[in-house]
Amino acid sequence: MTGKQLALVTGAATGIGRACALALAEKGYCVAAVWRSQREAAESLLDELSGDGHALFQADVGQADAVQKLVAAVVAYYGRVDALVNAAGRFSNQAVDAADYGQWCQSWEDSLRVNLLGPVNLAQQVAQSMIPAGRGRIVNITSRGAFRGEPAAPAYGAAKSGLNSASQSLAVALAPHGISVFAVAPGWTETPQASPRIHGEREAEILADSPLGRVGSPDEIASLVAFLLSGNTEYLTGAIFDANGASYLRN
Ligand SMILES: NC(=O)c1ccc[n+]([C@@H]2O[C@H](COP(=O)([O-])OP(=O)(O)OC[C@H]3O[C@@H](n4cnc5c(N)ncnc54)[C@H](OP(=O)(O)O)[C@@H]3O)[C@@H](O)[C@H]2O)c1
Repeated sequence: MTGKQLALVTGAATGIGRACALALAEKGYCVAAVWRSQREAAESLLDELSGDGHALFQADVGQADAVQKLVAAVVAYYGRVDALVNAAGRFSNQAVDAADYGQWCQSWEDSLRVNLLGPVNLAQQVAQSMIPAGRGRIVNITSRGAFRGEPAAPAYGAAKSGLNSASQSLAVALAPHGISVFAVAPGWTETPQASPRIHGEREAEILADSPLGRVGSPDEIASLVAFLLSGNTEYLTGAIFDANGASYLRN
């Protein structure tokens, strides 16, 4: 990867992570693409990435020890990490009025582990390689649900809200080291995880929520991520970017 920047992208086999991996390869990045269970999808991504030097890594980012091993393996292979995209995430329903207590506790633990602890653990680990270099960029994919709430999936909304807050804390702490941290908060986006819900019984309501009358595409989110990682964006550190087609505006 002589002369190329290295981007570690989680959730790279599908959806938004996949689109980010493709967009970053187009921008000249070398991509360390992280997958968990979808080997075929990951291998087909590897075939599609433009340029050379890309590699696949398998990890469950919800496991703290697996995160440490993952970053060690990427650093051993490439020598460093220049950019991190935390796209891996899991949405699951956990209605407060329906779930039994055991399910309720388990779903909170699972959601916080994958959607909050995984990204912040990855950020801490890649920062160890970025700090000596005096530069680096991190993008955390959060969610519009962090602001609107997620009544049917409160742990998901809380985890994404926590990740927005953590992104801002890390942006302040890492700025003196030349490391920028951004959060991107998508609204509904057409991906394998979201599409069954988008096109389910709430489809009309979801589309009516959007003044554009549509949901987003993974490519639209990926172009913002690629800009944040490739453009003149240092002064944007700490910002949370809404990417929801004006379906929800914060004030
Ligand atoms: N699509 C939307 O409407 C929307 C809106 C707001 C935010 N987001 C966020 O965008 C990100 C990407 O989601 P997506 O919509 O693109 O869904 P997706 O296509 O299902 O992608 C999620 C990816 O994360 C991986 N993943 C999940 N748990 C993991 C774990 N423990 N360790 C490693 N990888 C794991 C999945 O791999 P496996 O299947 O192998 O587990 C999958 O490849 C997520 O953080 C999501 O919360 C999505």
